Amino acid sequence: MSDAAAPVIRYERVRKEYDDGTVAVEELDLDVRTHELLALVGPSGCGKSTTLRMANRLVEPTSGRVVVEGEDVAGTDPVELRRRMGYVIQNVGLFPHRTVEQNVATVPHLLGWARDRTRSRVTDLLELVGLAPSTYARRYPHQLSGGERQRVGVARALATDPPVLLMDEPFGAVDPVGRRRLQTEFGRIRRELGTTVLLVTHDIDEAVRLADRVAVFSRGGHLEQLADPVRLLARPATAMVADFVGRGGAVRLLGLGRLERADVVPGDPAAAVGGGAEPAVTSAVALGAPLDEVLGALATAPPGGLRVHDDAGAGVGVVTAESVLTALHRMTDGAHAPAGTGPRR
Ligand SMILES: Nc1ncnc2c1ncn2[C@@H]1O[C@H](COP(=O)(O)OP(=O)(O)OP(=O)(O)O)[C@@H](O)[C@H]1O
Ligand SMILES: [Mg+2]
Repeated sequence: MSDAAAPVIRYERVRKEYDDGTVAVEELDLDVRTHELLALVGPSGCGKSTTLRMANRLVEPTSGRVVVEGEDVAGTDPVELRRRMGYVIQNVGLFPHRTVEQNVATVPHLLGWARDRTRSRVTDLLELVGLAPSTYARRYPHQLSGGERQRVGVARALATDPPVLLMDEPFGAVDPVGRRRLQTEFGRIRRELGTTVLLVTHDIDEAVRLADRVAVFSRGGHLEQLADPVRLLARPATAMVADFVGRGGAVRLLGLGRLERADVVPGDPAAAVGGGAEPAVTSAVALGAPLDEVLGALATAPPGGLRVHDDAGAGVGVVTAESVLTALHRMTDGAHAPAGTGPRR
């Protein structure tokens, strides 16, 4: 296997039984690939955090192996291992006696970065997570809200662009609007930097928005399905997954799909409505718009459809509710099971 294809994190028949006899993970085989964001979802207590924490040796497996960048973690120095892998948790673990700025600069300090470089990096990161440096840099963690603390935790984990990030409910305490913004920003920088991410979340919407692949766990770290978001929503492999994904699967799919040229009916919208006296279409959407947005705009558009324009603003035709449905079918037809749905064996 070439290096490019080698997984960044590999779980090989991993089992974790805690001292009191609780079996958190029975026998897990799972690969996290280079540059991907793999989301781990599942009900409370199914073994997500345990799985994540075995990657940086905060938890030791009872049997089996966890291999990070080709190396069995059992033989690595935990401190060195954690320096290579950013770690963000729900209750952040900020240093209470250090300011926000000092917290974010923790790893740059350890690595001996120059002052100016550290300072400009901290400023960029605080802006990125939506905390104005002039207001927040000198505050202490106890002077922040829970969501603000969490954002500092995200900034701190990103400070040195670690190749691998482990994230456990990293956006959990952030309000819905801030959360969405943070997700979008985070998704953008992750793609830019090519960071490999293992993300634990309760939130299936967050998982399908951010992830390249989603692993659904049931109790005991049992892998119910491993698939890309469209396939997961369109073709849940088991009743448990269908239940977890919920009835909103099709609606969530709309959020992942984009309006393509093939979905557009060429021609003039006024003609489509039968040439009535009323100008049929006043609003418009762009090619490439998310399908949920298109459907939303259709809901308030006059009958006959919605005008579609390209990047340059030139009209290319109309979109109707029917064409949104066709687009949805195109997505789900492309998601034939079972390739990639089952756990790796
Ligand atoms: N230190 C421990 N000792 C004993 N049992 C533990 C320990 N830590 C976790 N467990 C148990 O292991 C199981 C898996 O826990 P884990 O924290 O991995 O779940 P989770 O999927 O992250 O849940 P949540 O979504 O609630 O965070 C649970 O039954 C939990 O009670
Ligand atoms: Mg957990």
